[in-house]
Amino acid sequence: MAMLDVKDLSVDFLVEGRKLPAVSNASFSVEKGEILALVGESGCGKSVSCMALARLVPAPPGVYSSGSITFNHADRKYDVLKLDKKNLREFRRHRISYIFQEPSASLNPVFRVGDQIAESILLRGDTDDSIKVIEETVSVLRQVGIPEPEQKMKCYPHELSGGMQQRIMIAMALASKPDLLVADEPTTALDVTIQAQILELLREIRNQTGMSIILVTHNLGIVADMADRVVVMYAGHVVETANAKTILVEPLHPYTRALISAVPKLRHQSEKLATIPGNVPSPANYPKGCRFFGRCQLADSLTADKQELCISTVPEISEKRKGHFCRCHYSK
Ligand SMILES: Nc1ncnc2c1ncn2[C@@H]1O[C@H](COP(=O)(O)OP(=O)(O)OP(=O)(O)O)[C@@H](O)[C@H]1O
Ligand code: SF4
Ligand SMILES: [Mg+2]
Repeated sequence: MAMLDVKDLSVDFLVEGRKLPAVSNASFSVEKGEILALVGESGCGKSVSCMALARLVPAPPGVYSSGSITFNHADRKYDVLKLDKKNLREFRRHRISYIFQEPSASLNPVFRVGDQIAESILLRGDTDDSIKVIEETVSVLRQVGIPEPEQKMKCYPHELSGGMQQRIMIAMALASKPDLLVADEPTTALDVTIQAQILELLREIRNQTGMSIILVTHNLGIVADMADRVVVMYAGHVVETANAKTILVEPLHPYTRALISAVPKLRHQSEKLATIPGNVPSPANYPKGCRFFGRCQLADSLTADKQELCISTVPEISEKRKGHFCRCHYSK
């Protein structure tokens, strides 16, 4: 049984009387201790999918239109979309933490960083002994590689560099001892050396604690280095999932293929998701059939009567090989 199981999840935004589909019928799972990478171009629904996991999509305008999010912990099962307020608060405090691209999204500028970490520890509700809380604050700062933690804990966020702020944000996320850490492009704003250090830190933490991580990234080099499994999203759909090596070496979906062939050297940390011709359609203009039609090389190579299926019918996602799922009428 997977730790996190997302089934058929759809999230729409109600904007000016229209229902805009941000995430459509997405299914994916995360095992305990696994690093799952979520990739896809801008606007494909990665962040909305992540926010939905703890019901953090602002509603309204967001609407959870279909599906379920199940989180299994020991003998407890959380049906996230159905939790009442009290259980949702408990779930958010104990099971899941988020880190974002901008530390300012999590760090409060008017409180010392040590106090903010202490707050996360206290919110867990398993200790209120102030000496223990301070000791744990120092220890978690040390765990994320902050030098002189006793001094640094007294700093305000602006007194620290971007890389250090990122580490503080990770420390806050870790202080709540989550089972799942969701890292939404955590290093995009940092320079390459600091990026590598932060990612190494996340991997170490996973190895030490057995925490699961969902890592949203535009960078296929990071996928190659970090991920166990990959979910590729396109225009709100999950279009392919498989283990990382399979995705990178034997991608099945034409979109994944295009992403990969657009990157000259995969192992280059600095390589961003390179552009492929054309644009992701906006949720206001999703086509009736396959959302990738119009940019798809495989479809371009098909006869007009075969293309008709791409144009008329959304492909279902199906298991093409063991553990390898793909949403395409024609890829084999
Ligand atoms: N609050 C909102 N109101 C209306 N539409 C929204 C809202 N938040 C997100 N969307 C739309 O939902 C879709 C998915 O957005 P999302 O932020 O998940 O993309 P993403 O894959 O994370 O992109 P990026 O790589 O740029 O972060 C987009 O079309 C976006 O415009
Ligand atoms: S269903 Fe058609 S348009 Fe969509 S990815 Fe497959 S071949 Fe391309
Ligand atoms: Mg995003």
